[in-house]
Amino acid sequence: MGSLVLLNIRQQFLLPQRGMHIMSKNENIVVELENIGISFDDEVILDDLCLSIKDGEFVTFLGPSGCGKTTTLRIIAGFTQPDTGEVIIDGNRMNGVPPYKRQVNTIFQRYALFPHLNVYENVAFGLRVNKVDKKEIDERVTAMLKSVNLSGFERRQIHSLSGGQQQRVAIARALVNNPKILLLDEPLGALDLKLRKDMQIELKNIQQQLGITFIFVTHDQEEALSMSDTVVVMNEGKIQQIGSPEDIYNEPKNAFVADFIGESNILDGIMREDKLVEMFGHRFECVDTGFEKNEPVDVVVRPEDIDVVSESEGQLSGVVSSITFKGVHYEIIVDINDFKWMIQSTDSPAVGDRIGISIPPQDIHIMKKSEYSGMFGDYSTFSDEMELLNEVEVDGEDET
Ligand SMILES: Nc1ncnc2c1ncn2[C@@H]1O[C@H](COP(=O)(O)OP(=O)(O)OP(=O)(O)O)[C@@H](O)[C@H]1O
Ligand SMILES: [Mg+2]
Repeated sequence: MGSLVLLNIRQQFLLPQRGMHIMSKNENIVVELENIGISFDDEVILDDLCLSIKDGEFVTFLGPSGCGKTTTLRIIAGFTQPDTGEVIIDGNRMNGVPPYKRQVNTIFQRYALFPHLNVYENVAFGLRVNKVDKKEIDERVTAMLKSVNLSGFERRQIHSLSGGQQQRVAIARALVNNPKILLLDEPLGALDLKLRKDMQIELKNIQQQLGITFIFVTHDQEEALSMSDTVVVMNEGKIQQIGSPEDIYNEPKNAFVADFIGESNILDGIMREDKLVEMFGHRFECVDTGFEKNEPVDVVVRPEDIDVVSESEGQLSGVVSSITFKGVHYEIIVDINDFKWMIQSTDSPAVGDRIGISIPPQDIHIMKKSEYSGMFGDYSTFSDEMELLNEVEVDGEDET
């Protein structure tokens, strides 16, 4: 019964990815970060970061505020020098190479268009600086405005454009220089939800049409899952997991990733043997192997994977403590042995009802214990990260 909801949620997050790997031009590595480390004021900000990015790939850095996403972009772009490690772009070591000599363009959250220039001149600016001849400038600017759907806007003043149109001018201005790599730091952060969704699709289309490598930063997990070929989950200056959106969602490496991506119930368990985990004194079949006998583990169960059944049919049972209609599904909180499970279901039991829950073996995901074990757990400890994060504004970069 939870499966309809599950499908909806997975579709929302994951369907746009299908086939994206096929779009990647080839498997050539275009950016390599080798053991990047940096400290500010004796505080380690990035710790031994290693990452390879393929030509034509859409890679997203995802993580909470302050985890080092912007710092990583600045190091790739050449605005910040790392204390240790190397940046390699297209096979060349970038030590001492200034930003303007790297094949990289950056779009910052405040996209810093020139307010005194019209749309055409904003896009043409970099080409004029590089003394490209007039005819070629005209061809390239015209083609670029067409590809961001702004043909006819050439003479418009920047202040007369909507947020989304300004955003597209910023994209055109960055792309017209034919960068091999485009860095985008929360480029959609200032837009309202509807426009943001439209721009996500447009950006993805532009990236696929032009085959440019995008390195994108966001703290919005849904945006990361729906746009990227590869998601790099970061926390406290360390990479927590690198993988496809499906991997990150379905097989989180640790409790941090499980908590940060999507909603989850994170439980203590003991692996009694391969494919058998014990939680709350009940043994659940699962599909994971390779753990020690009786090894303590973290178990993640997504709310949409839990089936609501009658009390007698349940693997566990408890009392419904709240139910909220969310449009596609109900969000049900069930108190079972003092653990508040979050369930997303099209069923709508009443508050106070005793219900059973049943979890299919393939939806029980076993994780190794980590430094994050015990930090996230049931519904009562779910952090309001996203709300907090949404209040955070990106620091005032204005290098562009
Ligand atoms: N020039 C600097 N001097 C001192 N500290 C800095 C400097 N630049 C960044 N930091 C610190 O490094 C940490 C990482 O910052 P960074 O801007 O990379 O985070 P972020 O992941 O982009 O966060 P947000 O989502 O809020 O933009 C923060 O604690 C920040 O205060
Ligand atoms: Mg930032």
